[in-house]
Amino acid sequence: MSKTQATFDPKPDSHVGLSLFGKIALFCYTMNVNEKKQKTLLSGVKPTGHPHIGNYFGAMKQFVELQNTHSGYFMIADYHALNFIQNAGEMRQNILDLALDYLALGLDPKTSVIFKQSDVQEHTELAWIFDTITTMPYLQRAHAYKDAQAKDKEISVGTFNYPMLMAADILLYDTDVVPVGQDQKQHVEYARDTAEKFNRIFSETFKLPEPLILADVAVVLGTDGQKMSKSYNNTIPLFAEPEEIQKAVMGIVTDSSGELPKNVFAIHKLFRPEAELKSLYEANNGKYKVLKEALIADIEAFIAPLRERRKVLAQDEKSVLKILAEGAEKAREVAREKMKVVREKIGTTL
Ligand code: ADP
Ligand code: TRP
Repeated sequence: MSKTQATFDPKPDSHVGLSLFGKIALFCYTMNVNEKKQKTLLSGVKPTGHPHIGNYFGAMKQFVELQNTHSGYFMIADYHALNFIQNAGEMRQNILDLALDYLALGLDPKTSVIFKQSDVQEHTELAWIFDTITTMPYLQRAHAYKDAQAKDKEISVGTFNYPMLMAADILLYDTDVVPVGQDQKQHVEYARDTAEKFNRIFSETFKLPEPLILADVAVVLGTDGQKMSKSYNNTIPLFAEPEEIQKAVMGIVTDSSGELPKNVFAIHKLFRPEAELKSLYEANNGKYKVLKEALIADIEAFIAPLRERRKVLAQDEKSVLKILAEGAEKAREVAREKMKVVREKIGTTL
């Protein structure tokens, strides 16, 4: 067995980031799923740079936890990323990096399909078909489009069309559930609406997917108290080295007006149960340095094993490429069958 394979065992995960209510919600959801036939889960992340703890708690943690109870498809959304990364070397590196991130977190290629969007041409084909039944005003209501417009950015057709490619990603696999953070809710709604519209015009073809968004971690806050995001320079990278953790935590903007340093606490409760933290924070009221040091220690304890596992996997690029090739093959098989049905329905099969 290669080094890479030896480390693929999915990590039994704690639910520290969730309140009791969140844990019960995830448990009930999983039980419900176990009782029925396996549901299909699909999600994706754009290879646009290093993932952060917001990506992890908001979405990727759920990928790992639900892969054993679902038929899971985990995609590297490289064609979505092409709207942001237009440099071949960078794109290639980001794709490999994200594949390593998925594997280091515990996604298991033996039970889940891990693949790259651009390897399955049916995604772009279906996106085109969806374009033809979608109106401009409908797409103009997308948050991402409106934000870009508000900032006076020149908007590519790819950005405008983003929700239709994402609808194709989801609907091709008869997906039941899409685990994502809050910012992707509207995109899953676009997928549902598009499925309904297609079904109405061409008869029942697509399943209506549901988003899976956990309230406690729907929007993880960054070091400046705003939503953590790759584009805001306020992240704690998921595979950070100790110095990066130190720098990010020391940079958390603190607010002395409240009882607790709010921003530090908000991040800390992802790593330790809230009840435990309350006494720590009360005992150290106003001592930001002590509290930040405690946070650094907790983040390091969480990240260190992931980081080390990722380093081992990174030594074997060949295995990663093989996993992606096998994933693409499995995804293609499903997508090909679905597209046969779609082409029949629209009348292009003679
Ligand atoms: P970013 O905004 O950092 O570029 P992505 O768009 O790559 O992140 O998001 C990948 C996944 O992580 C999506 O499901 C998204 O909803 C989720 N996500 C991103 N940021 C956060 C956050 N701050 N809190 C919760 N989930 C998040
Ligand atoms: N739009 C998602 C994001 O920015 C990435 C994505 C692409 C995705 N296709 C998807 C997520 C399908 C879930 C399902 O994070």
